[in-house]
Amino acid sequence: MANTEINKVSFVDLAAQYQTIKTEVDAAIASVIQNTAFILGPEVRKFEEEFAQFCETKYAVGVDSGTSAIELIMRALEIGPGDEVIIPANTFIATALGVSFTGAKPVFVEPEAKTYNIDVTRIEAAITPRTKAIMPVHLYGQTADMDPILDIAKKHGLFVVEDACQAHGARYKGKRAGSMGIASAFSFYPGKNLGAYGDGGGITTNDEKILAKLHRLRDYGQSEKYHHDELGYNRRLDSMQAAILRVKLRYIDSWNQARRDHADYYSKLLSGTKYVTPIVPAYAEPIWHLYVIQTEQRDMLMKFLSGMGIYTGIHYPIPIHLQGAYKDLGYKTGDFPLTETQSQKIVSLPMFAELSDEMVKYVVDGLLKFTGS
Ligand SMILES: Cc1ncc(COP(=O)(O)O)c(C=O)c1O
Repeated sequence: MANTEINKVSFVDLAAQYQTIKTEVDAAIASVIQNTAFILGPEVRKFEEEFAQFCETKYAVGVDSGTSAIELIMRALEIGPGDEVIIPANTFIATALGVSFTGAKPVFVEPEAKTYNIDVTRIEAAITPRTKAIMPVHLYGQTADMDPILDIAKKHGLFVVEDACQAHGARYKGKRAGSMGIASAFSFYPGKNLGAYGDGGGITTNDEKILAKLHRLRDYGQSEKYHHDELGYNRRLDSMQAAILRVKLRYIDSWNQARRDHADYYSKLLSGTKYVTPIVPAYAEPIWHLYVIQTEQRDMLMKFLSGMGIYTGIHYPIPIHLQGAYKDLGYKTGDFPLTETQSQKIVSLPMFAELSDEMVKYVVDGLLKFTGS
């Protein structure tokens, strides 16, 4: 297709992906309806086995969202009122919410300027006698620098929990995201690299005790039917979603590879321009959930691009410490300057496996037109 024929590029295109797997997905949904195993049936069990295998962990537990995954991990680790959990300041609010729901306090640490991931050199200063865990977020699909984080945690006797909600299949020094902490949270929100057709989440772990606790917590606290050992929730992964995710899991590596190719192409076309493009450290193998650049005139740029039919996003425009939900923590503008500056400059470009080179080129043409280059 010639470049001139493109006049629209969506931010994500879930319908395009569905077209490529329609037959399998439709059959998977029909089969769940036929079998009527709607709650924690064989599809959930099989998905958990397959997802654990994919993440190179012993176990996976299907839950109803990434936010639940974080909260249930916290509860399984007996983190609660009076405790603190260190998280990056520039993550999606759900990272903090999962901590807050237990009564514990999220403690923010600035990201590195280059990778957007938690700045490991600032973690120790945030540790107090109340700190129970460090929860790095593999933001935009690129892992945080895990070895120093694991070392700091060991030195201070803290848990490491990975928020891998944006990082299905990413690697750190060859290890899968979600395989390095005591437990890790995944989101299967539809727009994620591995997305359900509704809400969904998962937890990976190698620890049998945590596994048993998570099985109870997501299912009314029961160890066997009608035996309720603790106050549990109803936070199960839906069987229909599990069946859909099983189909998608067969394609995730090739979709992630396609995203890598698009990211490489964006970076190649944007090199030497005014835009700040993503940096990939030697330790990381990202899966490009988002391709984020920085520019001074972000809001004008987004408007300009949308006039060309190009849809972009901001992840995230208002830092958590400045959100109304967290006003009780008492933060003010200027407390996390890097997070705040980045939130005004970042813009996420269209990124999904089914993008074509022509579409990437059209987006970059728009970016260059805006700067007059
Ligand atoms: C980094 C991060 N943490 C947590 C979540 C929460 O996941 P969910 O939307 O499935 O509750 C998300 C996704 O929305 C996320 O991107």
